[in-house]
Amino acid sequence: MDTKYIKIPASFGGRSIRDVSEEELEQLKRQLLEAAEILKSGGLVAFPTETVYGLGGDAKNPMAAQKIYAAKGRPSDNPLIVHIARTDQLKGLAAEVPETAEKLIRAFWPGPLTLILRKRQDVPYSTTGGLDTVAVRMPEHPVAWALIDASGIAVAAPSANASGRPSPTRAEHVAEDLSGKIDVILDGGDVGIGIESTIVDVTVKPSVILRPGYITKEMLEAVDGRVDLDPAITEKPAEGVRPKAPGMKYRHYAPRAELTLVAGSRSKVIERICREAKKAQSEGHIVGIIATDETESCYQKKPEWIVKSVGSGKNLPAVARNMFRVLREFDQTNAEVLFAETFPEEELGQAIMNRLKKAAGYRIIQAENEDEV
Ligand code: TXA
Ligand code: MG
Repeated sequence: MDTKYIKIPASFGGRSIRDVSEEELEQLKRQLLEAAEILKSGGLVAFPTETVYGLGGDAKNPMAAQKIYAAKGRPSDNPLIVHIARTDQLKGLAAEVPETAEKLIRAFWPGPLTLILRKRQDVPYSTTGGLDTVAVRMPEHPVAWALIDASGIAVAAPSANASGRPSPTRAEHVAEDLSGKIDVILDGGDVGIGIESTIVDVTVKPSVILRPGYITKEMLEAVDGRVDLDPAITEKPAEGVRPKAPGMKYRHYAPRAELTLVAGSRSKVIERICREAKKAQSEGHIVGIIATDETESCYQKKPEWIVKSVGSGKNLPAVARNMFRVLREFDQTNAEVLFAETFPEEELGQAIMNRLKKAAGYRIIQAENEDEV
């Protein structure tokens, strides 16, 4: 299949649909007409959202869902998030909208928050991975919002990466993984957030965060009181335990090289990474290091090591924005063994560490603990 590449002004990246004028919106919708028609007729369109690029298909068309699974090489028991542009589309998807959901919608939609709701009967099981619930979100990226609104349908869209690879934060990443397998790639430049939406199950009380994201636990609790964290977010799920978001059980975001995280105080982490890197190098491996702006020069003393910064450790939004791109950049090098610094698991650091741990297959060394390998 020939994948059509359509370029949209990158100036919409990092903006919210709330701040786009009527005139800009009309112009944008004209550019998106062809892609919207393809979606309506069962085709697949990759598009930028404020979090990561999504791979869209008609949420009510089981054939479209099957095409999405095939293009991504994704197991079909891993449900898709349904994207809408207007709250009245919820009626066509959810059997009921609890009060908690209404509060969170008022506070955070459009935006990077996905709600798990009981599904209506006519939402196909191929979209929900066989579950009786459906994940719904309303994106705020002007291109995503306008595409969905122009198509007039609810759009099922997982992240637009091949299953297991880091999520795409720019159109080139989508092309790397899916070119030739989907109908259209809308290139809207770099996304603003860089890490996927927060997923909250509002079918239970108190509601539970199934996947941490840009909307933090603290932000949710400020709106609706107590919100719990699914234990699978911070710990490696035990053998046989099924995380509530089925996608959380799969190996994810994995770079090709073997990644190990090193935790502890900054000076100990640097020392330990240097030591582990020397050891790996002496065993004949090419070494890569994921550092921060504050620490990268400490590793650059060894010119053979490939060192990349994910941004300032004091600027977690920047780290979130750069993380997946840096993981992908390492795939373009011949690094075989990777070491990464870690971040405090609070606020946005929770989402960053959740993705890093999964990328590392939960391999973490405590810098202070000398015996650990
Ligand atoms: O930011 C995002 O959410 C991006 C953009 C494209 O919107 N989408 C995204 O989709 O990250 P995906 O498919 O890569 O991740 C969806 C996650 C999976 O872990 C899946 O298991 C979970 O959502 N999920 C979907 N429906 C669910 C449901 N009914 N119950 C529990 N988890 C669900
Ligand atoms: Mg994904």
